[in-house]
Amino acid sequence: MIRFDHVTYQYEKAFSPALSDINLEIREGEFVAVVGHNGSGKSTLAKHVNGLLLPTEGTVTVCGMPTSNEDDILKIRQKVGIAFQNPDNQLVTTVVEEDVAFGPENLGIVPEEIRTRVDEALASVGMTAYASTAVHHLSGGQKQRIAIAGILALKPQILVLDEASAMLDPSGRADLLKTVEALHKDGMTVLMVTQYMEETTGCDRVVVMKGGKIILDGTPAEVFKHTDLLKESNLVPPETVLLRDSLRSMGYALSDQVLTAEQLAEELCPLLSTI
Ligand SMILES: Nc1ncnc2c1ncn2[C@@H]1O[C@H](COP(=O)(O)OP(=O)(O)O)[C@@H](O)[C@H]1O
Ligand SMILES: [Mg+2]
Repeated sequence: MIRFDHVTYQYEKAFSPALSDINLEIREGEFVAVVGHNGSGKSTLAKHVNGLLLPTEGTVTVCGMPTSNEDDILKIRQKVGIAFQNPDNQLVTTVVEEDVAFGPENLGIVPEEIRTRVDEALASVGMTAYASTAVHHLSGGQKQRIAIAGILALKPQILVLDEASAMLDPSGRADLLKTVEALHKDGMTVLMVTQYMEETTGCDRVVVMKGGKIILDGTPAEVFKHTDLLKESNLVPPETVLLRDSLRSMGYALSDQVLTAEQLAEELCPLLSTI
């Protein structure tokens, strides 16, 4: 569904490229997390998915359409919705349902269809009860969910989140992640850039970036085997993974599948009961 083929991107005046020879393929319905230290190229990568940036070298194709093809760019933008860090910059009106309706209205969609889309979008992010609430009464997490509802009302097939949870408190982050996981379950292809490693353990794949390159790409269990490499890249693996590794060094036979507290409890309890 998304394909990066030897993509290099050089910002004007920058010393080194922000992306260097990136190859990445994301299949329909996949939930892929992108992690990496500040400046590793995550946002530059995300902006290539809907043609906000075009490769200096190489090609990005979305559903078979190259982003460099001007005739396809509108179609690509309809397929790819992007949510950014600050929800305040993404909301344009004062009332929740008006905000969600804003995008479809601009596309000239008929009012009945807009009503259906707004209702469905609010339901998918769990914000139906807030339809007529003033946007400024919402918490950061709720605003981000409304921003995503506004994207969903445009019926994209791919959702790109660029550190969309970065400005939220832990409960807002948890709600947003739950929302994104539910969208993925319903078939949405998701590319989620995040600085929170714990958010990636439930994804299909984790892509780790460093200095404009992909240094790891695999299932969470595969990627979190490489805790030393992650630490060298200034990334902190999830707490549970660090605890798992400490327990292993003490002799507990825990598998690579241990990524969350629940999985740790499941494998550790039988080991403890034999003592
Ligand atoms: N508009 C820009 N002009 C020049 N360099 C930029 C610009 N935006 C980002 N960069 C540089 O490109 C590299 C990758 O940035 P970015 O994609 O924003 O990384 P990340 O999202 O992982 O923090 C960094 O070295 C950054 O300084
Ligand atoms: Mg960024």
